[in-house]
Amino acid sequence: MKSVWWQLWDVVLLVALWIPSCLGQTTAPPPFEGGKLKFRLAGYPRKPNEGRVEIFYKGEWGTICDDDFSLANAHVLCRQLGFTSATGWTHSAKYGKGTGKIWLDNVQCTGSEETIDQCKSRGWGSSDCTHDEDAGVVCKEERLPGFVDSNVIEVEENRVEEVRIRPVVAVAKKRLPFTEGIVEVRYKEGWGQICDLGWNPKNSRVICGMMGFPYERKVNKNFYKLFTDRQQKFYRLHSVACTGAEVHLSACRLQFNKGNASASCERGMPAVVSCVPGPQYSQASSQKKLKSTVRLKGGARFGEGRVEVLRSSQWGTVCDDHWNLQAASVVCRELGFGSAREALRGARMGQGMGPIHMTDVRCMGQERSIWSCHYKNVTSEKCKHTEDVSVRCNVPYMAFENMIRITGGRTRYEGRVEVTTTSGNGTQGWGLICGDGWSTREAMVVCRQLGLGYANHGLQETWYWDGSNVTEMVLSGVKCTGDEMSLSQCQHHETPSCLRTGARFSAGVICSETASDLILNASLVQETVYVEDRPLHMLYCAAEEDCLSKSAAKANWPYGHRRLLRFSSQIHNIGRADFRPKAGRHSWVWHACHAHYHSMDIFTHYDLLSVNGTKVAEGHKASFCLEDSECQEGVAKRYECANFGDQGITVGCWDLYRHDIDCQWIDITDVKPGTYILQVVINPNFEVAESDFTNNAMKCSCKYDGYRIWVHNCHHGDAFSDEAERRFEKYPGQLNNQIS
Ligand SMILES: *[C@@H]1O[C@H](CO)[C@@H](O)[C@H](O)[C@H]1NC(C)=O
Ligand SMILES: *[C@@H]1O[C@H](CO)[C@@H](O)[C@H](O)[C@H]1NC(C)=O
Ligand SMILES: *[C@@H]1O[C@H](CO)[C@@H](O)[C@H](O)[C@H]1NC(C)=O
Ligand SMILES: *[C@@H]1O[C@H](CO)[C@@H](O)[C@H](O)[C@H]1NC(C)=O
Ligand SMILES: *[C@@H]1O[C@H](CO)[C@@H](O)[C@H](O)[C@H]1NC(C)=O
Ligand SMILES: *[C@@H]1O[C@H](CO)[C@@H](O)[C@H](O)[C@H]1NC(C)=O
Repeated sequence: MKSVWWQLWDVVLLVALWIPSCLGQTTAPPPFEGGKLKFRLAGYPRKPNEGRVEIFYKGEWGTICDDDFSLANAHVLCRQLGFTSATGWTHSAKYGKGTGKIWLDNVQCTGSEETIDQCKSRGWGSSDCTHDEDAGVVCKEERLPGFVDSNVIEVEENRVEEVRIRPVVAVAKKRLPFTEGIVEVRYKEGWGQICDLGWNPKNSRVICGMMGFPYERKVNKNFYKLFTDRQQKFYRLHSVACTGAEVHLSACRLQFNKGNASASCERGMPAVVSCVPGPQYSQASSQKKLKSTVRLKGGARFGEGRVEVLRSSQWGTVCDDHWNLQAASVVCRELGFGSAREALRGARMGQGMGPIHMTDVRCMGQERSIWSCHYKNVTSEKCKHTEDVSVRCNVPYMAFENMIRITGGRTRYEGRVEVTTTSGNGTQGWGLICGDGWSTREAMVVCRQLGLGYANHGLQETWYWDGSNVTEMVLSGVKCTGDEMSLSQCQHHETPSCLRTGARFSAGVICSETASDLILNASLVQETVYVEDRPLHMLYCAAEEDCLSKSAAKANWPYGHRRLLRFSSQIHNIGRADFRPKAGRHSWVWHACHAHYHSMDIFTHYDLLSVNGTKVAEGHKASFCLEDSECQEGVAKRYECANFGDQGITVGCWDLYRHDIDCQWIDITDVKPGTYILQVVINPNFEVAESDFTNNAMKCSCKYDGYRIWVHNCHHGDAFSDEAERRFEKYPGQLNNQIS
């Protein structure tokens, strides 16, 4: 029994490293004097001359992002820390993730600077990184002779950074996530336990929240006592007193053990917690969808995104006044995750569109829903979508990133996809996926599963990347919806059979940390829509570009007319990266009749649908030239079509296709009077990466009496509650006034 126990030390590593900034740490940071920077090395495990670099600036400790980091940077930092020079530096939070601010990003020293603030960087506090990217340095052991600097601070002994729950044998056999176990905290020499005398459910709630679980439950202590009685124990913490609203153990009142740590908990045992996983992580109902009045949009990873709330069947965003970790944690827990790791302001996960439902949200931390917190309604003009809030939640450790890998690419964001396999005799290996039918949707799942963000491309051939010794195709016919947590949840063939064999035709991905997000202005469609009978003699160009329905070919040109449903399209980029056509300019197509280049073959679909969903009139499968027609305040235009200019839509800008330009219509000459749905879909084939495809369709209800047309309830695909959307699809003509 004992040996199995010890093996688990290796198997199980449930780690939560991060400590919130605003809740503070157990020991107060030293006072800020005279504007001088302070430095320290932190993290585990490390020697005294290495660690995560932390800087004290403006009263707060923070870290440095590893982007553009170099040995030259490390030299400057090591000298400031009292060492002669650096021997190396580390990226990706090698010494654990820091807390609070990320003070510096894209630091580029030449190596000769005296202090780090003389080096080039984005400026204090300006960073797009997470603490996963904290930089560290390895300094030479040799110290600068005579170095005395009160601004180099030793890390306090009494700090809790990492916390884990360690299951025991019987529990560990179950699938991930582990929801129950002994609570352990990391310290210099290893992991220690917490004495459970005085332990209460509020403490458990905080631990469960850190581990990605919304709630705690009672645990069978006797069961654990049997195990722990036989173990050597090291009680790191003597007592813990949380209020339950903390998002990290370090924010609770803590008493560290002094002296003989093994003997100090004689009448107690190690603290044990049991957590209730959110429905999406519970094994009984792995695919169950949560019915909720809150959702996250546009996040690159699970458990993060822009917060949207549902009121009167319509989704809207939350304004960032007073937004903090307490409120963010209520959102996270409501969604079946743990507490919040970060509460972000200023549309860090892209802007929403449509209503802003709340501002000034203040939660105690115990609320079951954000709607139970105090909040204010947003008065017009008070908030803009540039102030939309977002969250990063603690999510359970699922080891998803160990089940697949990508190889052969030029950067760590691209490569051939490989999946783990277990052969008949139990040996583990890796295999490839057939490229047949592989698309952006499947790539989206791979990129998210690996923590690499959004999918730029799903590639069906990967011969141009470095080969590897993995050549066997082990998976084919993979079909994902795009929402799956891991590739294993997607459909695939029972036994692999590829149309094109050979490793050169294996599936690949190119991932990206940021993506665009296009959305059509639905109210503008509603405001500008009309019917025009346009004489055929004015439609030669349009006919050449295939913008009329088939029956136009049989018309008596140039006599007669076509009946056109016309409207303006204003396509906004509300994401975090510019929208660029997939094809390079060498493959753009010159349209002589309209005298411009088309950079995307199919950019939008315009359709008129009957109530049962069949198409009654198809617009031109519009290809456009893409440009910034206008931008929101403070954003500069970057793309324009004229003169073979660069095409695209900048973040914060929109491309306008006015109702009176050629082909901006649906030819409804053959449509009978009735009730219909007008539908516009942008980027319909997912050709270009977006952070959110659910808002790419826009629908309106249409009533046509043979002469005039009435258009109501224009909304984008994810604007209504599911129930309201179903009602709309069923009776598009009657929804009027039910949604305001
Ligand atoms: C701590 O206490 C235990 C049990 O009372 C004892 O066996 C051990 O030697 C002590 N260790 C130290 C370092 O005093
Ligand atoms: C906010 O507006 C909703 C409906 O528009 C109303 O029911 C609610 O009472 C308002 N709440 C506050 C706090 O003003
Ligand atoms: C298991 O099977 C694989 C081939 O499927 C073979 O290469 C490997 O040597 C086998 N391992 C053992 C331990 O038998
Ligand atoms: C594949 O190559 C890697 C290094 O290139 C090596 O570590 C690994 O053992 C090889 N695997 C097989 C199955 O040959
Ligand atoms: C959408 O169009 C309406 C109507 O023209 C306009 O008032 C509104 O400002 C537009 N929305 C955005 C986000 O530009
Ligand atoms: C759908 O509606 C159209 C006309 O509104 C009709 O011609 C067609 O037969 C219907 N299809 C189905 C499957 O009901």
